[in-house]
Amino acid sequence: MQAILEAKNISIRFNTAKGVVYAVNEVDLVLNKGEVLGIVGESGSGKTQLMHSLIRLLPGNAEVSGSIFYEGENIPDASQTRINTIRRNEIAMIFQDPMSCLNPYLKISQQLTEALLFDDKINKAEALQQAIDMLEKVQIPDAKQRIHSYPYQLSGGMRQRVMLAMALLRKPKVLIADEPTTALDVTVQAEILQLLKQLTAEYGLSVLFITHDLSIVAGQCDRVMVMYAGQVVEQASVNELFYQARHPYTQGLLASAKSQSGMSDKLISIAGQAPANNQRQPGCPFYARCEQRIDSCAKDTPVLSSNGSHSQACHLYG
Ligand SMILES: Nc1ncnc2c1ncn2[C@@H]1O[C@H](COP(=O)(O)OP(=O)(O)OP(=O)(O)O)[C@@H](O)[C@H]1O
Ligand SMILES: [Mg+2]
Repeated sequence: MQAILEAKNISIRFNTAKGVVYAVNEVDLVLNKGEVLGIVGESGSGKTQLMHSLIRLLPGNAEVSGSIFYEGENIPDASQTRINTIRRNEIAMIFQDPMSCLNPYLKISQQLTEALLFDDKINKAEALQQAIDMLEKVQIPDAKQRIHSYPYQLSGGMRQRVMLAMALLRKPKVLIADEPTTALDVTVQAEILQLLKQLTAEYGLSVLFITHDLSIVAGQCDRVMVMYAGQVVEQASVNELFYQARHPYTQGLLASAKSQSGMSDKLISIAGQAPANNQRQPGCPFYARCEQRIDSCAKDTPVLSSNGSHSQACHLYG
């Protein structure tokens, strides 16, 4: 398989008035052409900041180290103009809350046609028609009329469809979907996920799909990367992860998801909390919560080791 996006040894620190926040620590990420890579982990584990670093979206107080290549092109060294073009045309992103990305003061028509008019030599009427066609593709009823709405005039599910249309309009190669359905109710969520899956295949997209919901991973992804406290603790194909999870944190997540879906008679949670990220301690970040810990877990930080395509950062696996 050929990589389309490859990041190595990414660390992200935030300098704040209260000191340094270690958000992401030495993470490697490979997205292969045409695959959907799921990224799971609890709140604060660094998923969003890692994604933002890939397209240089981090705020000014962030310090990033490591290398990022998109189709062989060095992202940290690219000019701002080139990065803007990549964000507009090649690596699109959709977010959990469409209202935070759609401009509330502008009609959908203007927001959708902006990128088309920026790059393509087409007139306003042609751009509008392309935008309407895309709204139909994401199954917005009465797209011809709805395109003249303001975001607040649409339901949450429709706004998410508009975000998806906006992301796909320029026919990107990579889509970063950051919890795109978390804010929606379950039936709308299922419709959007189905649509996303269908369009991903149709457009041949490579997708980074962030979610904290393992059932979504099972339905949408080919491979999964599990993050904990800013680090990758396990990585495997969806099948291997679900049937042969190795890291105690992944095992805990799966047990918890199973109990929430009613497959077990009691609710299971992972006791304790993730370590504070204002300092870096030696040892495994999951040590304090791990029921399978051994002596070396307290002092030696485990590194990812792999057996074929399945890797884990855990001392139980040598
Ligand atoms: N601008 C910032 N300044 C300081 N710390 C930040 C900043 N942005 C994010 N962080 C911290 O970085 C860590 C990782 O945040 P991130 O947004 O990547 O988490 P996440 O895994 O996406 O969580 P969630 O599932 O809640 O979206 C968190 O501890 C967060 O508080
Ligand atoms: Mg996030």
